[in-house]
Amino acid sequence: MIRTLSYVALSGTLLFSSIAAATDETTQQYINTLTELGYPAPKANELVHIPPTMEDLENAKLHPELKRVIRRGYDLFTNTQQLRGENVFNNMNCSSCHMGEGRMPFSAPVWPAAVTLPNFRGKNDHVNNLEERIAGCFTYSMNGKPPEYGSDNMLAISAYHQWLAKGVAMYPEQPIYGRGFPAPDRPKELRYARGEAAFEENCSVCHGEDGEGLRVGNQTVFPAVWGDMSNNWGAGIVRVFTAAGFIKNNMPLGQPNSLSDQEAWDIAYYISNQERPQDPRYTGDVKDTLEKTQERFHKHSMYGQVRETDGHILGDHNNTGEKPFLKPDSVRPRTFE
Ligand code: HEC
Ligand code: HEC
Repeated sequence: MIRTLSYVALSGTLLFSSIAAATDETTQQYINTLTELGYPAPKANELVHIPPTMEDLENAKLHPELKRVIRRGYDLFTNTQQLRGENVFNNMNCSSCHMGEGRMPFSAPVWPAAVTLPNFRGKNDHVNNLEERIAGCFTYSMNGKPPEYGSDNMLAISAYHQWLAKGVAMYPEQPIYGRGFPAPDRPKELRYARGEAAFEENCSVCHGEDGEGLRVGNQTVFPAVWGDMSNNWGAGIVRVFTAAGFIKNNMPLGQPNSLSDQEAWDIAYYISNQERPQDPRYTGDVKDTLEKTQERFHKHSMYGQVRETDGHILGDHNNTGEKPFLKPDSVRPRTFE
């Protein structure tokens, strides 16, 4: 219980106001709390940043209008469902995967994007800026269409990311502590049946037997882990190692690092063997799409693979979920010519 409470406090807005005192002592306390929750301590060369909270924002010396825009970005990040039908076509909020309002280490905290971009990204083979990185999660994780580049909503969401990075130098040379969803080493063997049983035991109470989650009115209580209301086949979390990393570090809710590595990987494998909306890069044929995307993206996913339990080819369908189109116009190559 204490574990759960300190986790909630850490991932929430209560603790660790970094502006109040970004001292060595604050950092040490922050690291202690994380290691007590089972996360590894930072390596000697790693950059540790405690992102500021929304309470810090109120006390910060920034123009009131800027504060209003950052608040708007925060609101969109944590309740992205307000863009449902326009930019979002599933039950996700950004904070469904980026826990603790996008501030939580080992839950892909979002601020690193603000200090490491613009940069080249292999996923789409060109230089991306922060807006395009955000657009990627809209396109794949939210099974949607990003707000227009330069629009009020895009500016607000970007401003929130940049606010979280406050105080970090651009293009840091050190590796960033807690970035992404680092996965434990892959066990020798992954088992579907074991994953299914462990899911039923540890996860279905919130996420449902069929991974559908729980929605009440216009609010998502528990997001869908597969099916029409989940992320599509183009999302980063469809890579089995990314799902395993997310699960090990963040689930069951409030009990991070409580599953064994084998359990986290088996569950990730089981989830990765379920259907979800089509990859926006679909060419009309799953084999052809796989040939074009495997090397760059689907090397570590189950897309186009045969499910061992019933021979179903994963991703072999035209279903785009609730989204009335396959690919948003903003997904395009960029050549600078
Ligand atoms: C279904 C889960 C999921 C949802 C929902 C989601 N993301 Fe992500 N996001 C990811 C994954 C996976 C990564 C890649 C992490 C990695 O590098 O391994 C990522 C990475 C990012 C990054 C880059 C972080 C870095 O270290 O550079 C940003 C920024 C980001 N997401 C923003 C957003 C925003 C904004 C939204 C809502 C519009 C959103 N995400 C919704 C899963 C998700
Ligand atoms: C007590 C309820 C609860 C339990 C139990 C739970 N989750 Fe979650 N899960 C959540 C909530 C809530 C979120 C969204 C995060 C947020 O809104 O703070 C989430 C998010 C997720 C996500 C990312 C978003 C998505 O829908 O894909 C995955 C994957 C996930 N959980 C998998 C699991 C797995 C696997 C287990 C079992 C090991 C599990 N969860 C157990 C409540 C729960």
